[in-house]
Amino acid sequence: MYSGLPLKIGRTASDGTFEADVLAGLSKRPRAIPAKFLYDAQGSALFDAICELPEYYLTRTEIAILRDGVHQIAARAGAGRQLVEFGSGSSVKTRLLLDGLADVSAYVPIDISGEHLEATCRRLRADYPALAIVPVCADYMELPLLPWLPGAAGAAKLGFFPGSTIGNLEPHEAQAFLVNARHLLGDDGALVVGADLKKDPDMLHAAYNDSAGVTAAFSLNLLTRMNRELGANFDIGAFEHDAFYNSDEGRIEIYIRSLRSQSIVVAGQRFFFEAGERIHTEYSYKYSLGDVDALAAPTGFIRAQTWTDPDELFSVHYLAAV
Ligand code: AVI
Repeated sequence: MYSGLPLKIGRTASDGTFEADVLAGLSKRPRAIPAKFLYDAQGSALFDAICELPEYYLTRTEIAILRDGVHQIAARAGAGRQLVEFGSGSSVKTRLLLDGLADVSAYVPIDISGEHLEATCRRLRADYPALAIVPVCADYMELPLLPWLPGAAGAAKLGFFPGSTIGNLEPHEAQAFLVNARHLLGDDGALVVGADLKKDPDMLHAAYNDSAGVTAAFSLNLLTRMNRELGANFDIGAFEHDAFYNSDEGRIEIYIRSLRSQSIVVAGQRFFFEAGERIHTEYSYKYSLGDVDALAAPTGFIRAQTWTDPDELFSVHYLAAV
């Protein structure tokens, strides 16, 4: 059984594009820094704290949907699937599938952070000693192929993309992700994907503007990271978190806003901010079932089944290859 270090394919988190991407992002208009840079060690810890917030219904609702629906997912998937997870899901969700699916032939977690992968695999290997776990350290948006597994060579694949991470992709990126997932999972493959649903804008607003200020700290941690890693001199108190629901676009938009006019040095380059000027950091798209159908249609997947909670806050979809 393979039990080694993660296979590294293509670009990974340690390849160091932070400085170049930040300088490019601060130089363009509107200014924008890719959301993936929010997740340093502190950002990841803050995101874990967000998942526990009373206002942030997404995580607990998705877990409840998976817990209730896993037997139906297992019935659709059949026995012996190779489980392929895109991104570092919380192990709670992964374990629900590992426990609920019949005879999983291998588990292939894909993550851009090698450290995160190793920690996840260490824990899972202790609890699932008989399971073949083959971690792949890669950017799943660019992954061209999956490892060939001797023990699970003929097994159909089941992809798993939970957490509404698909919502952080712009529609053209989400479609590109699905096209690549369809290619990786094959003609007998399927994908279980979690997507947050469109709902009352006030509830969405609260989920991204929690009263304890954890989401604000998560956003502003990006400035702290630039100070530490790029020798920047951001005064964190001179910026604020700005998140709101744009109903025309069906998405939460998140920015860091300058509270006054100021000049900042980042990696030796000077940037001038007007009072009120913003840096875009995240989109979080919200879906209707029709949106999911429209997204999947040109990618070679069809929505075969959907599970939601009683309040229809969140959705989990079984996308089957066609
Ligand atoms: C990771 N992702 C699904 C979160 C979301 O809800 O879009 C990221 C997040 N950003 C602020 N709060 C949560």
